[in-house]
Amino acid sequence: MHKLQVELGSRSYPIFIGEHLLTNNDNAFLSYINGKQVLIVTNETVAPLYLNQLMELLKGYQCHTCILPDGEQYKNWQILQLIFDALLEAKCTRKVTLFALGGGVIGDMAGFAAACYQRGVDFIQVPTTLLSQVDSSIGGKTGINHVLGKNMIGSFYQPNEVIIDVTTLKTLPERQLSAGLAEVIKYGLIADSDFFNWLEKHIEDLKALKTSELIKAIEWSCKIKAAVVALDEKEAGLRATLNLGHTFGHAIESHQGYGNWLHGEAVAVGTVMALEMSYRLGWIMADERNRAINLLAKAGLPIVPPANMTVEDFLGYMRVDKKTLEGQIRLVLLKGIGVATVTSEFSAELLSAILSTDYQQLMASILVSK
Ligand code: NAD
Ligand code: GLY
Repeated sequence: MHKLQVELGSRSYPIFIGEHLLTNNDNAFLSYINGKQVLIVTNETVAPLYLNQLMELLKGYQCHTCILPDGEQYKNWQILQLIFDALLEAKCTRKVTLFALGGGVIGDMAGFAAACYQRGVDFIQVPTTLLSQVDSSIGGKTGINHVLGKNMIGSFYQPNEVIIDVTTLKTLPERQLSAGLAEVIKYGLIADSDFFNWLEKHIEDLKALKTSELIKAIEWSCKIKAAVVALDEKEAGLRATLNLGHTFGHAIESHQGYGNWLHGEAVAVGTVMALEMSYRLGWIMADERNRAINLLAKAGLPIVPPANMTVEDFLGYMRVDKKTLEGQIRLVLLKGIGVATVTSEFSAELLSAILSTDYQQLMASILVSK
């Protein structure tokens, strides 16, 4: 089992990464539970797969469960109430620990419920998708969507620990695995060219779920995220670089209807747009843009925006992005592989050109056939 630390002073916490963590007896992570009461929040898909395993692990505790419907479209205020209902019906006190067992949707909702219940109770992340293992379970961003914008209601609230059992990825649908790879590739692009080079060599191993490569990629990603969060927990600056591709991506997710495009898929297309913009600004070379786009494609991700989105559709959502300052859209762009910047230093004309580019045609000249 590998152990990393998110360094946040008195709120520091460990990330455990390994195989069979939910089923073996080496459960060092139980020491991070402070009371006797626990509530496991999960969903209808994950419960039949892993709820019994986690309950077995927690057999010494007074264990309650809350099983939510599955889907991004349920990451909302109404469904959040079900967690509060379960907490109150079970008479949970301030000493309760919430477990988030599932992907990013469950992690974001259970974390937000923990932040609110009795003004804050403990919670533990047990992420079961690649995306949640490398990104959403770390760093304390919790929250829900609003019909007018994604992740618009929430709180920064750190877990007691993160337990990453890579064995859970064996049941993950391929499309979800690819969506997680979008965030893995993001780390290479924004922070670490060595990681990007390694990913170019090992993308097929990751798609084939080769354990040692998977653990290496998850650990590398978590290290980068933990370092960024330690320096800028509340996103005063640096942390925003973790949003490469997200401003375009959130617009796609919101416009297409939550759940129709996966978060990672929308981020992949958003990353293509950010790469193209960085290239047209002269900040990255054609070869860098092309390598990154080819890696996203090899990971099984979409690289062309939905055909039914106009420039105005994009701009409408991008204007309510959390990075937008005084009406000015800010984007995460690259100044090389491994070097990201958050900037509004681009003209409205360039942004409009990026949003109206024929990506299908552009890809024909960029994609290298296998
Ligand atoms: P998700 O939570 O919807 O999970 C994807 C699907 O996989 C769901 O159907 C889920 O039930 C299923 N699933 C989960 N684990 C499984 C397993 N082991 N086997 C089989 N099926 C499994 O999606 P996600 O990609 O994990 O997370 C996306 C969400 O995370 C979005 O809401 C996004 O906004 C949020 N997010 C948050 C942060 C953050 O910092 N808090 C960062 C990135 C993304
Ligand atoms: N996923 C972006 C962040 O955690 O800041």
